[in-house]
Parts: sequence; C-alpha cells; structure tokens
Amino acid sequence: MSDHDQDLVTNVSPNPEMSAIIARRMLLKGGAGLAALSVFGALAGCNGDDVGSSTPDAIGATPSGVAPPRATTLSFNPVAKSVADAVRVPSGYYATVLFRLGDPMAASVAAFKNDGTDDASTFDRRAGDHHDAIQYFGLGADGKYSATATDRALLVMNHEAITPSFLHANGQTIVNGARTVSSEVLKEFYVHGVSVVEVVKQAGNWTYKQDSAFNRRIHTLTPMTLSGPAAGSRYMVTKFSPTGVTTRGTVNNCAHGYTPWGTYLTCEENWAGYFRRTTATDNAKRTAKELTSFARYGVAGAGRELWATPTPDTADNLYGRWNAEALGTSTDGSDDYRNAPNTYGWNVEIDPYAPSSVPKKRTAMGRFAHEGAWPAKAVAGKPIVYYMGCDSRNEYIYKYVSTAVWDPADASRGLAAGDKYLDNGKLYAAIFSADGTGRWVELTFNSGAVNAGYTPYAFADQADVLVNARLAADAAGATKMDRPEWGAVDPFTGAVYMTLTNSNSSLRTLASTDAANPRHYNDARTNGSAQRGNPNGHIIRWLEAEPSALTFRWDVYLFGARATADAANVNLSGLTAENDFSSPDGAWFGSNGIFWIQTDDGAYTDVTNCMLLAALPGTVGDGAARTVTNTDASGATKTVQTYVGAAPGTTKLKRFLVGPAQCEITGITESPDGKALFVNIQHPGEDMPLADLSNPSKYPSHWPDGGLTRPRSATIVIQRDDGGIVAA
Ligand code: FEO
Ligand code: CA
Ligand code: CA
Repeated sequence: MSDHDQDLVTNVSPNPEMSAIIARRMLLKGGAGLAALSVFGALAGCNGDDVGSSTPDAIGATPSGVAPPRATTLSFNPVAKSVADAVRVPSGYYATVLFRLGDPMAASVAAFKNDGTDDASTFDRRAGDHHDAIQYFGLGADGKYSATATDRALLVMNHEAITPSFLHANGQTIVNGARTVSSEVLKEFYVHGVSVVEVVKQAGNWTYKQDSAFNRRIHTLTPMTLSGPAAGSRYMVTKFSPTGVTTRGTVNNCAHGYTPWGTYLTCEENWAGYFRRTTATDNAKRTAKELTSFARYGVAGAGRELWATPTPDTADNLYGRWNAEALGTSTDGSDDYRNAPNTYGWNVEIDPYAPSSVPKKRTAMGRFAHEGAWPAKAVAGKPIVYYMGCDSRNEYIYKYVSTAVWDPADASRGLAAGDKYLDNGKLYAAIFSADGTGRWVELTFNSGAVNAGYTPYAFADQADVLVNARLAADAAGATKMDRPEWGAVDPFTGAVYMTLTNSNSSLRTLASTDAANPRHYNDARTNGSAQRGNPNGHIIRWLEAEPSALTFRWDVYLFGARATADAANVNLSGLTAENDFSSPDGAWFGSNGIFWIQTDDGAYTDVTNCMLLAALPGTVGDGAARTVTNTDASGATKTVQTYVGAAPGTTKLKRFLVGPAQCEITGITESPDGKALFVNIQHPGEDMPLADLSNPSKYPSHWPDGGLTRPRSATIVIQRDDGGIVAA
C-alpha cells in the first residue's frame, strides 16, 4: 500500500461486522419528514421561509436562495478508461491547471523551481502538497461571504501528505534512522495542512491571486485552540500547553466539511502514524488504559517521516513534540509530549475570511481517523447535524447532533457560531442491521455500555469518551465497515451517501461479510493475480425522517467492479465499460443534484488510472433485496442478503474524467452558477523509486508541467467550451 494511504487497522473489538441486533422498524414512509430537511435561510443572502422547497444549503451551492432544478440528464459523452499520463475530460470540455504544489502565495515569494532546491523557509507561503478536499467560498466586494460570487472566491483545500522523493533534491536525507537535514523537515512541516487562496475569473479564465491578503497557509506549526468538552482536560496536557487548551498544527488533512456560518472544517485522518513512540521503552511507563488507547489508535513506532529525529531539538521542541514517549518526570505530562497524540484526530474549524483567526479543534465531534464531516441542511429551529466516517478498515460511521438549534442570525458570526453549535452536542455511531434498517447509538459517558464498567477500557468522563471515541463506539456495538471515506447529503432528498472504499481478505473475511458489507470475492487482475475481500468497494446510503433521528433505512447505492466481473455476485450494479470503477473515495453533490464519485484505487490500476464519475442517483429503496454468494480462496461459500439500489445503466452513471499516472482524484467543488468545477489531482507519479530520481525520463508522471519535470499535485478547473453548466 502506498504511503499516502496508510490504513492503520486497530479495531480488535468483538463487535460483529454488522450487529445481529434487529433494530426497531423504521416508521419512515415515502417522503414523510422530508419537508424538515429543507434549508431555512442558511446564510445571510439566502431567502427565508422556504420549508418544503428544495433550496440547497448556501455554502458551495445556490446563489440567492434559488435552487436550480434537479438535473435529469448527464449531457456528456463518457470518457474511456485510460493509463495515459494526462487528464482526460469529455469532448466539449476543457481543463486548466490552477494551483500546483509550490506555487507562490505572496508577492515576495519566487516562482517554484520544482527541483527540490526551493528555500524551505518560503513554503509557509507556497501551495502545499497532496491536494485533497476543496471548498468554494464566494468572495464579495466587501471581503465577506457571497452566495452569488461566481467569479471570485476563496478556495480552501487540504494538503494531506507528501511525495518525499520529489519534494527534496535527492529525496529525504536519512542517516541511521534519523533525519539529518532540518531544512527538509521544516519544508515538510509547511507543505502539510490547508491552503486558503483567492481565485478570480477574468475573460473566462480562472487564475489564483498570488498577492491576495486572504491567502493563508495553515500547517503543522500553526497555533490552534482546543475547544469543547475535552479542552483543558488531563488528556490534553503538554509541555506546550500545561493547561491543555492549545496545540500546534494539523496534519493528514483528508476530506472536509463546511458550516452554514461560512467556515471550513479540516479533518485529521491518519495522524497517528506521525507520532514516534518506542514501545520497548515507553510501555512500562504507561497505564493499562493508556496502552489500550494507543493500541486502538495505532500510536506506536518510529513515526512517519521521522519528524521527531533531528538533533539537537529546538528550544520550543519543534521535533521533540512528535515524540509521544513519557520522557519527563511530571505526573501529568506537563514536561513532555506524552499526551500530544490526544491533541490530534479532530475536526478543525477555520474561518477563511479572517486570515489572522486561530483555528479551533472541535472535540465534541470525537477523535478518530476523521475522513470528513458532511452537514445535513441547516433548518431553523433544528439541530446542526454532521455525518462522519473513520477511515480504516473495520471502522465506524458517526453522527454529531448539536444541542443548540439553528438560528439563521448566526450565519455571519464565524468561529463564534462554531462555539455555539460545535462545542456542545451528542456523538453517535451507526449500527446497520440485516433487515435494511439501522440506528444511531449514543456515545455519552454513562449512556449504555459507555461507562466505567466497560472492559477493556473503563471510561472516566465525557472527555475520555471523546478522546477515545473509537473505544466508545466499540462499547456501543457499532458496525464495522469497509473503510468509510467521503459522505454527501442529497440536497433534494436528504439521503446520506458514504463511500466504503475497499477491504481485503483478512479484514473482510468470508465469515464477516454482512448485509451492509456483503461481498468477499476475487477481483483478478489482467495478469491473473488474485485480489480478495472487497477490493473494489461500495457506496452505502441511508435516509432518516430528519437529520437528528436515531433510526434510518439503508441500501447500497453502487458496488464498484470491473464491467467484466460476475454479474450475479460481484458486479451487482451492472456497471459497463462506460462507468465501471473501483475504490470510491471522494463523493459530492452539486447543487443540481448530480452526484460525483472520485476514486483512490489500487485494484483496477492494471486497466485504468483513477477517475471522476457523474451520477443521477435515485434514493434509498429504489432497488431490491438480493442474495449474493461469496467464495473465498479455499472455495468455501457463504450467502448474504443485501439491498441493492436501482442499477444506473449507461445514462445515470458516466465516467467524466480520468487522471494522470499514479494519481488519486480527490476534492471537488463548484462555482455557484455550476459553470466551473474545481477538482484536485493528488500525488501523480507517487511510486517514484528514489534510485531513479536523477533520471527524469523514468519519472512515473510529468503531470502537469510536462517535459521531464517533476510531477505536482494540483487543482484543475473544468469548464464547458460553450460556457454552460458542467455535466447537466
Ligand atoms: Fe485520506 Fe481516507 O483518504
Ligand atoms: Ca479520501
Ligand atoms: Ca483515500
């Protein structure tokens, strides 16, 4: 598995992959309750009382509160699968490169040389690496949020990780297991995190504004406030913040969320691996509870990128703070960084319109490998609701429901509104039952099994529950899923979609297949090599009476597969050459209801690079129950009943884009008029053998700059030749 996509599997709980508990039957019928899903004046500029209409949420959606009609056709010809080192879009469309790794974000910063020699100290003002989630925030003439700004915006995006070989002149310098060139490490600290960058459209062309006062990099050194129930708790005490109320930086920012009050949520995914913790010397210094927590989150080992290793350390422990070993003599951790891993694994709120604001880590939303946080529509008088996934195999799906109910007057209050809605609420985990229903179980101290009597982890208080949300979800009996990646809420039906990117034969065994994770099969590559388990993934969806409801109905919208795979047991959605795909990751609804699917695939790469597909989904229950016969490597079989959404055929699911060599397609947003689609291309050419770095003709990719250049992650803009709305 490539380094960018580390999937630390730490769930050894006895929870069934799907609960055997039969949930209460949902009372939900047809469209009942859907009126409550409609937005109610989500942001200033949005119309008021339109309950019962299908007005989408304001951020990233519709200008002037006027909803576009739901798209009923996909008006483009599908793109063929490709292994070319190029971005392919349909005829009648063009893609331009907007914002690449290293691009300068201040007037004083020189153009990027892209040979590994650019000055490390400038990278806090350059585009980061591994572009991931992205969100369009319309920028008005007054410098504030504008729902109608179709030609000026702040793009906010994540920079998840790095391709180390291309970042430095000769790759990372490592001697005897230690980083010895501190400037290389500083550069890496800076290229992770988040970019806020102003973009403008002039004469039909989108460019970024190098000297915008809004441009900002948030990275692993940026001071952050810890907020919510776990802030100031004993779990957060570090030498940097002996009272446990602040921390430095954010890392492995994968997908994202946005709020009705115009802020961005960046989500910390595979953060655990960055911490160094030498178990041979540290375990003896730790309590049994601490060891259980470390094991459940995967905090052990040398530390990804070896950031703790440069010597000597700085006075403010820029390197040492990545060492989570108990090294000091204090009893509370105020003289070392033994608790530093507890300050990561959160959703972090950023106000893109306030460049000097301090980001806040929202602890009420729980600590896990956050892929992203996807909001239900904000409705006046109803709680704010987020759906979230924990991206590792056999991990869970979560939901956050605010205590405060939405008041549209908060739409312009920025992080202060976040304090109101994101610091006080209830966290839930999902149970998917075999009868096609499901329920949300509460993760609150002394609720159900989440208490001091839970074995193997006796919870002490609510801060403990939130810091150890994975263990709380174990206690609650949540359903182990096939790697939850992105979620998306259908703006017309309120149905929630979540990609389950894939699993393998040891983590989705034949025996552990269940209704919601129903496949175990062999996806043979063209060279005959076997790939077993659920290597192509699927997309589950559910529908609630309203977002704060505790029950739902679910089905599987789509199953990834080769078009040539067994139609009875593997290619359950009837995919064809025009729309077959593997490993869904990014998922997003445009304001016109087109559902976009992005892939981060390793299974189908013998045939095609990663891709973007457009879909016209129906809704939960539009298909039928179906029995699948699974077969493992020994020939043993098991039948499973699942629920499969209506097959899309060739008109309701089409491949829209194929990316360059070894990239992942991730992150997608649109201008409010739907005429510009912004998409991120992550890590082209990532599998670069270090030994070949001096021979550019051997680089796996030269995208986007071509010739013999080093590849760069980048944001592209896709528009129609005729200036029309993309895809509809
Ligand atoms: Fe960073 Fe879950 O993909
Ligand atoms: Ca992802
Ligand atoms: Ca991924």
